[in-house]
Amino acid sequence: MRKEGILENGRIENGVFYPPAEILEKANAKADIYELAKKDRLGFWDTQAKELVSWFKSYDKVLDDSNAPFYKWFVNGKLNMSYNCIDRHVKSDRRNKAAIIYESEIGKQVCLTYGMLYKLVNKFANALSGLGVKKGDRVVLYMPMIPEAAIAMLACTRIGAPHSLVFGGFSPDSLRDRINDCQAKVLITSDGNFRRGKPFPLKNNADKAMEDTPSIEKCVVVKNAGNEIDFVEGRDVWYHDLMAKAGNYYEPEPMDAEDMLFILYTSGTTGKPKGVVHTTGGYLVQIQSTLKYVFDIKEDDVYWCTADIGWITGHSYVVYAPLALGSTTFMYDGTIDYPDKDRIWEMAERYGVTKFYTAPTAIRTFMKWGVEYPKRHDLSAIKILGSVGEAINPEAWMWYYENIGGGQAPIMDTWWQTETGAFMCTPLPITPLKPGTATYPFPGIELDIIDEQKNPADEGYLVVKSPWPAMLRTVYGDDQRYIDTYWKHFGDCYFAGDGAKRDELGYIWVTGRVDDVLNVSGHRLGTAEVESALDECEEVAESAVVGKKHAVKGEAIHAFVILKDGFTGNAELIDKLRRHVGVKIGPIARPDDIVFISELPKTRSGKIMRRLLRDLAEGRAIGDVTTLADPGAINEIAATYLGKED
Ligand code: WT7
Repeated sequence: MRKEGILENGRIENGVFYPPAEILEKANAKADIYELAKKDRLGFWDTQAKELVSWFKSYDKVLDDSNAPFYKWFVNGKLNMSYNCIDRHVKSDRRNKAAIIYESEIGKQVCLTYGMLYKLVNKFANALSGLGVKKGDRVVLYMPMIPEAAIAMLACTRIGAPHSLVFGGFSPDSLRDRINDCQAKVLITSDGNFRRGKPFPLKNNADKAMEDTPSIEKCVVVKNAGNEIDFVEGRDVWYHDLMAKAGNYYEPEPMDAEDMLFILYTSGTTGKPKGVVHTTGGYLVQIQSTLKYVFDIKEDDVYWCTADIGWITGHSYVVYAPLALGSTTFMYDGTIDYPDKDRIWEMAERYGVTKFYTAPTAIRTFMKWGVEYPKRHDLSAIKILGSVGEAINPEAWMWYYENIGGGQAPIMDTWWQTETGAFMCTPLPITPLKPGTATYPFPGIELDIIDEQKNPADEGYLVVKSPWPAMLRTVYGDDQRYIDTYWKHFGDCYFAGDGAKRDELGYIWVTGRVDDVLNVSGHRLGTAEVESALDECEEVAESAVVGKKHAVKGEAIHAFVILKDGFTGNAELIDKLRRHVGVKIGPIARPDDIVFISELPKTRSGKIMRRLLRDLAEGRAIGDVTTLADPGAINEIAATYLGKED
């Protein structure tokens, strides 16, 4: 048990938390790191690239910005991701160090050393190659948080076949659309995985998706939960059968720094998810540099990032960065309260976790459950905590700091996105902290806050002023959408879609999305996606979806629905619509509330005024309606609607 109280050797002054002396002394980041990067930004990234990456062939130039916004980093450099994550460690003293430690919900444990991982990845690269996968072919993964997922990702990178992971919570329709968008040749999945002791049938979902995915030639199935599955002769193959026959070595493909590493679909402001494209060199440099300095990675760490591999956090900070740095990454596949609400802390204690990275929504859930659960365990090995997914509210920050970090572990509030690939705005362990702010841009990253007229402002839009190594390179198959979405709003700047403000210390506070993107429990969803799912139902004439503040999820989905004539909005229909959205997109997209109204407030140009709907959903008085086509309409809606709410 850790003793009560805050900071044994740091201090708190005016709400600022200064780092403990021990952390300051030993941190990878030295006090001059910001200064050095500011003086010579590209020089900073050049040094990072030389220190952190094993290149097959060195690059000619750090950045080529001649064809903006199609930037190139580490021009003509050659490297391979799996080589950097495994081979180079196997050739060192880390050969027998734990690379991946895994535990399943029902308590199965796996520990793969770098040497073991090397064999498995080589074998699976041979297996995939045997199925016809070549450099440039796309492979989709629809998998639980099992070591085979990491093995499959690394094997794809060894061949140079870009992978695209689809979160296991997504529906067959979502999986199908993503497979078809990138024309994947192979799908890798598993029979199922356990959720609260019951198998979840992943392969059934994959089968439904594959009814309409002509590009898929083979489906590799990992036996995990042991549940019954259908097997399509000629298409489906067992992972263990392939591995039994596969050769032990596969020569890592020398990839150009700018060759595609993976595609990851994310929600935007339209109904169609975007395939965010990441390339190899710059991505590998920035994910390692950020993890090394922000989580202060040391040789004896047991590092645990709770994100699912289906999201960017799982790519960059569960698999690639920790392995590239030769660290030990912990993976858990299961619910966080099975068999009891202390499962996470019980594992953190048992494995001696030193660095712990999770999302505010999880922290708020832990808070709700009560402090007795972490108190049952000795968490004193934890040195650094992290937070990602949304701004962390100061109350959750303090709870996390006191009860998980024992008042000695600085919290790294990391702001970044699927598109940025790696941390952009984040403290370092040496940074004085304030609860609720992601503090400063990472060294070598230039962020700014600007107003509508592109002038620097203390409150406004968060932009990135210059290219960064791990940036997305395009939207898969749609360069124009890449330009229009990210580079049109503010000239040369990348527009992140977030609002932000700066305080008197110069700290950046991210205030949330300013576009039509929702953040539900740290999961990103487009309002348009949910609306188009609702609009498919025969009863629905039109719908509008907004985010409503929620104590645990951050934002909950609140839908306004106009019915076609002849239909009545009742509890049964609400249930049907909610279920339909769940089937169409996935359970995370199911609206919490559905409210039937007669009209939607629209601007004169026909755009739905979501701000007003948000006011209504959150029970606030209605704001400015001067741009509304028919200002009378909103009062009518407010009258009928507010009467219905609690
Ligand atoms: C959006 C990106 C980056 C991995 C997880 C989500 C919000 C993320 C923070 C933070 C405030 C945050 C932003 C951003 N966000 N981290 N520390 N403080 N907001 O990745 O699905 O691409 O979502 O999440 O709104 O734009 P994503």
